[in-house]
Amino acid sequence: MTGGGQGVPVSGSVPVSDRAVVSGGVPASAQPHPEAPVGAPLRTPLRALAGAPPVPGAGMVAAGRLVRARGPVWLVRLEGAGLGAVVEVEGAPGRWVRAQVVGFDEDGVWVMPCGVVADIRPGATVRLVPLAERAPCPVASAGRVLDAFGRCLRSGAAMPAGDEPVRGPAPAALQRPPIVERVWTGLRVIDGLLPLARGQRVGLFAGSGVGKSTLLGQVAAGVAADAVVVGLIGERGREVGEMVELLAASSVPVTVVVATSDEPALRRVRAAELATALACAWRRRGAHCLLLLDSLTRYARALREVALASGEAPARRGYPASVFARLPEVIERAGAAGTGAVTAVYTVLVDGGDMEEPIADEVRGLVDGHWVLDRELARCGHYPAVDVLSSVSRLAGHVCGPEELDHARAVRAALALLSEHRDAIDLGLYVPGSRPALDLAIAVREGLRAFLVQGVASDGAQACAQGEVAAGETRAWLAALAREVEP
Ligand SMILES: Nc1ncnc2c1ncn2[C@@H]1O[C@H](COP(=O)(O)OP(=O)(O)O)[C@@H](O)[C@H]1O
Ligand SMILES: [Mg+2]
Repeated sequence: MTGGGQGVPVSGSVPVSDRAVVSGGVPASAQPHPEAPVGAPLRTPLRALAGAPPVPGAGMVAAGRLVRARGPVWLVRLEGAGLGAVVEVEGAPGRWVRAQVVGFDEDGVWVMPCGVVADIRPGATVRLVPLAERAPCPVASAGRVLDAFGRCLRSGAAMPAGDEPVRGPAPAALQRPPIVERVWTGLRVIDGLLPLARGQRVGLFAGSGVGKSTLLGQVAAGVAADAVVVGLIGERGREVGEMVELLAASSVPVTVVVATSDEPALRRVRAAELATALACAWRRRGAHCLLLLDSLTRYARALREVALASGEAPARRGYPASVFARLPEVIERAGAAGTGAVTAVYTVLVDGGDMEEPIADEVRGLVDGHWVLDRELARCGHYPAVDVLSSVSRLAGHVCGPEELDHARAVRAALALLSEHRDAIDLGLYVPGSRPALDLAIAVREGLRAFLVQGVASDGAQACAQGEVAAGETRAWLAALAREVEP
């Protein structure tokens, strides 16, 4: 096994519910899956990150040799290693570097390392690792921070395997129930103007440092869901600690899957897919899981790195075609299926507001709505910095009544008027009385801002999955604003 795990500033002991899942004389993987009622007995287990016993049987099955190491991919001769297989190459005696098969030709199999590379020599021994291609059991993983291979980040111990493949197919179109149920987040700007639906996939678009991760944390803390899975892909190690701290306030079981920016591209790819698989594993149990992936752009960049290294030709702005095939694969896997659902929010980097950047452009077409953050709002301390006029929920009509839609429309119209005439108003060029609708909007400007702005600290209450409790309040507030802005 190879290193690369980060320390996470969370400590504590295993919660009783987790311990029951992973301990005992029987090998963890051989235990039956606990059919605990989802969401109930696993409350706030995030502080507990001690390890589980390793999955037995992950031994060596075949051996080969390293033939060539040139650049990011290595050539090995090894029987039975197909595309995607995981192998280990021996560095210093007894120290193995994990790698994954990314291609093959008549010379042999091409692998790409996904661990810390040290002491690799010509002719090094290579062995195939029969890795569980199944995501860990979601119940056992609740309250833990995992690495890309589903091992506990603190202890390195593997989790008991679950029944969901790491890379699995999306639910069939006809298996998808219609989207009719609202998901309350406790955030007024979302609940009032960009309603979230059970099984919806949303893109969160913004430049760096505008508040994407903070907003994700707020959504996770307030959402009415049975479980939360967070994939932190290509972020800085420091941010992981911050996010874990933010999530500790959540009252539902949270699992975090991490591959930081310094980890090899393959691990970043796998971490995103593992987080998705874990969310789908909750869905398989009939639960409603919120999946937060931060960031989808870094997942796409990791895919690009792997594809280019394995010889694929660059296409749109350096992204090979396979990247655009993998993105819908991962996004389509979320959503509702059977009695469960995965509601997903994916962050997408749009530096300099470039929404035409290929990944942003592609993702916008794949999701059921997008929230756009605005740097100018953030600069004025308007958090969450959601640019309501550029954002849209494509499922609002499915989950809101006509009256609520009307209220949202009226408030949006007022925001649009204010935005259109902002310069004139600020410079004192607007003559009051010349546009009655604008006069009303100006009169209620502070009220609109108070509705939209919602800090992290002031919402300690929000941090208790009180989305539903806050729902009535948000509805009433929105209705009052709508009455004030309508001529
Ligand atoms: N809701 C908020 N309230 C106050 N400050 C915020 C809020 N959201 C973001 N910020 C500020 O913006 C900085 C960057 O936020 P972050 O969520 O890390 O952005 P991103 O993930 O887009 O890079 C934070 O360190 C904080 O200073
Ligand atoms: Mg961030």
